[in-house]
Amino acid sequence: MKIDVLLGLQWGDEGKGKIVDVLTPQYDMIARFQGGPNAGHSLEFNHIKHILHTIPSGIFHEEKVNIIGNGVVIDPVVFMREIESLEKLEVEPQKNLFVSKKAHLILPSHRILDAATEAAKGSTKIGSTLKGIGPTYMDKTGRNGLRVGDIILPGFRERYNFLTEKHKVILSQFDYSYNLGEYEDEWFKGIEKLKSFRLVDSEHLINNFMERGKRVLAEGAQGTLLDIDFGSYPYVTSSNTICAGACTGLGIAPSRIGEVIGIVKAYCTRVGSGPFPTELSDKTGDKMRKQGLEFGSTTGRPRRCGWLDLPALRYSIMLNGVTQLIITKADVLSGFSELKICTAYKINGEITEQMPYDLSGEKVEPVYTTLEGWDEDITKIHSYEALPPSFKKYIEFIEKETGVKVSIISTGPGRDQAVFPFPL
Ligand code: GDP
Ligand code: IMO
Ligand code: MG
Repeated sequence: MKIDVLLGLQWGDEGKGKIVDVLTPQYDMIARFQGGPNAGHSLEFNHIKHILHTIPSGIFHEEKVNIIGNGVVIDPVVFMREIESLEKLEVEPQKNLFVSKKAHLILPSHRILDAATEAAKGSTKIGSTLKGIGPTYMDKTGRNGLRVGDIILPGFRERYNFLTEKHKVILSQFDYSYNLGEYEDEWFKGIEKLKSFRLVDSEHLINNFMERGKRVLAEGAQGTLLDIDFGSYPYVTSSNTICAGACTGLGIAPSRIGEVIGIVKAYCTRVGSGPFPTELSDKTGDKMRKQGLEFGSTTGRPRRCGWLDLPALRYSIMLNGVTQLIITKADVLSGFSELKICTAYKINGEITEQMPYDLSGEKVEPVYTTLEGWDEDITKIHSYEALPPSFKKYIEFIEKETGVKVSIISTGPGRDQAVFPFPL
């Protein structure tokens, strides 16, 4: 069996959590492969909204195995709080959640470093979620990091102290006051919580699963345009969010990748700083934010909104080898008399469909095609045929322009709000 990879094709928050929840019944295992508590994946069923940060979105299905892979970075405090809120709902994650021993730990001092470096950047700040992601991945690649498997080895506390002292020296260079103590106590409680889980060599578990004919879904975090190599650098996250990240973040050979499922919001949003060619800083953007409830799941920050950007989408499809598209939040576009889609960029008077080296360094003007909008509420529609004609034209335009078929259209946040244009 091959592993299918589900990932975001924009700047994150495409609705990955909801779609993983919809698809989980078709799989035996759900595995997160990168990122950490910077992610906020929302799922909604029985009129309750759940937001997951580190734990895979298959956790509510008790018969499915959930894996936090080696490519993920874990803050034991966030992890513990997530587990506690699941336990309040009578979910028992100890039964079906496994954690890779090779996943790296976010230390309290990583969070402080994140905050101190962002504060020092002033107006050029990245807009980080301040969860310690950048400093933790820096220590991973710098070969200083602490891993989950270390917590059960002798000398863990000494290694923790050694790394924290190193961070304190770096922090002394900043004009930044902090207090590690409060968070540190919680952190060690979180470490004890982590110890109560099955800490595994997840690469073996996943590959053995596939050998036995079981179906695995890899769940991406963030989005392709936040990828450390291909995103709008430096306004990116610190991991490979693209499909290749599933190989390194889980220990899967490239030849084992099956379907690559690209999640696309029907328009674009971005939280944090960085270029956004189709951004709408006007009433239309405000309407999208209001109708789409576009406020960050992790930080509560208002998300910047804008029209769908096809050059960016084609770039993401190319980098990931996307085999099917899933369009989310299409319902949010009801009530716009016309809809624009960016089909190319005009840069220094030249029209291009290609992503430039630096989106922020040049004046990028979107070239738009205008399509007719629709007024109908589509949140209760379950068949493709019943969708408004102009809605179908919008979807068909995306398929034609990208050359990839749309396999699911999400029409609301709920588990049952989905239209399947053709059976897979
Ligand atoms: P993720 O990070 O990709 O999992 O996305 P988030 O959960 O951060 O943000 C997506 C938001 O949109 C959440 O509040 C979801 O509940 C909501 N959502 C997901 N799909 C749809 C949809 O099709 N329509 C609407 N209206 N909301 C959706
Ligand atoms: P999900 O998985 C949207 C953004 C931050 C910031 C940049 C770097 O829910 O889609 P970081 O904390 O990684 O150093 O922040 O990346 N960012 C996200 N934006 N969704 C996310 O995750 C994000 N994770 C990070 O806002 O601009
Ligand atoms: Mg999110």
